[in-house]
Amino acid sequence: MRAAVVLALALSWLGSGSVLADDGDALYQAVCASCHGATGRGDTPAGRAMNLRPLEAMSGEALTGYIRGNARHKALSDKLSDEELRAIAKAIPTGD
Ligand code: HEC
Repeated sequence: MRAAVVLALALSWLGSGSVLADDGDALYQAVCASCHGATGRGDTPAGRAMNLRPLEAMSGEALTGYIRGNARHKALSDKLSDEELRAIAKAIPTGD
């Protein structure tokens, strides 16, 4: 059963040309770093243009709630499962 869920997640990501679901760091780098930067400081051209603050450590629940409720992250929210967001929360780089 669990294997089927993991496979479904993996296939949904492979189907969209992205990376495997259980690797939070790889997911962060693939879907968040373009704005928030590889180290979470927002020190990318896009991040500077949007005046991003450095990311802080968040629980999986807090990050999932934020992404699900924030209009700026709507496109990502539609693509990421709760499991993927929890994995990303564990891997959020906090600038050090
Ligand atoms: C297209 C650019 C973009 C991408 C990609 C992006 N974000 Fe953001 N993010 C923003 C912007 C802009 C804000 C500030 C939003 C606001 O103030 O309402 C923000 C704010 C945040 C915040 C709140 C931090 C704070 O201090 O305000 C968190 C947490 C966050 N993003 C996490 C993520 C995660 C995790 C991903 C990847 C799944 C991601 N973001 C992808 C643009 C982006």
